[in-house]
Amino acid sequence: MKNLRIAIQKSGRLSEKCLSLLNRCGLQFDNRKRTLISRAKNHPVELMLVRDDDIPHYVRDGVCDIGIVGLNELEEKIGCSKSPDNPVKVIRSLGFGSCRLSLAWPKSVPFEGLESFSGKRIATSYPNILERYLESKSIAAEAVEISGSVEVTPSIGVADAICDLVSTGATLDSNGLKEVITILESEAVLVRSNQTLESEQEDFLTRLLQRIDGTLLAQN
Ligand code: PRP
Ligand code: ZN
Ligand code: MG
Repeated sequence: MKNLRIAIQKSGRLSEKCLSLLNRCGLQFDNRKRTLISRAKNHPVELMLVRDDDIPHYVRDGVCDIGIVGLNELEEKIGCSKSPDNPVKVIRSLGFGSCRLSLAWPKSVPFEGLESFSGKRIATSYPNILERYLESKSIAAEAVEISGSVEVTPSIGVADAICDLVSTGATLDSNGLKEVITILESEAVLVRSNQTLESEQEDFLTRLLQRIDGTLLAQN
């Protein structure tokens, strides 16, 4: 059979947990070199180490067969993951990498609810999710797309507020911001494309999912 290609984040908050999940499912990789693609030692599987932001499109386009990515990236890049005609399907929620995408506001500025965002510039790396949210609430605000260090933008005058991932809240706190509204609860999810796999690949994926389910059960 053709190798089943699995995409995971090369480096970041999900990387180690993704690798350890796959290891616990019996997949072993020689990834000392951290190359883009590494073949599993004992299974017809290739691991692709890529930027998490690219995983939704790689899976959609068939560059990879399955991937592990934050629901936040999936919602941003592909849109509503729950819709049945979505080209990328969530097949498991993995119970790690929990965080939320939230609106945050400067502690020094009075906050009077969602209306406070009207006419404001909101810096974010998630402009699509933010714009959909603002539209659903009929709030006219500007999403300013920033690729990193979003939390510093209010203090340097680039934006009035931000929309970013929050886990412990420490980043917001140390930048004089407070979380005011949660837009999306996120965690790591396993995704696959709608494209059909070879039947042997499909069988292998079924067995891999059984192992993943076993691993998830064992840790709860
Ligand atoms: C996210 C987010 C904040 C931080 C929040 O970044 O952008 O910087 O985590 O976490 P905290 O609430 O525990 O302080 P991440 O580490 O995912 O990396 P990135 O900003 O490079 O995407
Ligand atoms: Zn990212
Ligand atoms: Mg960050």
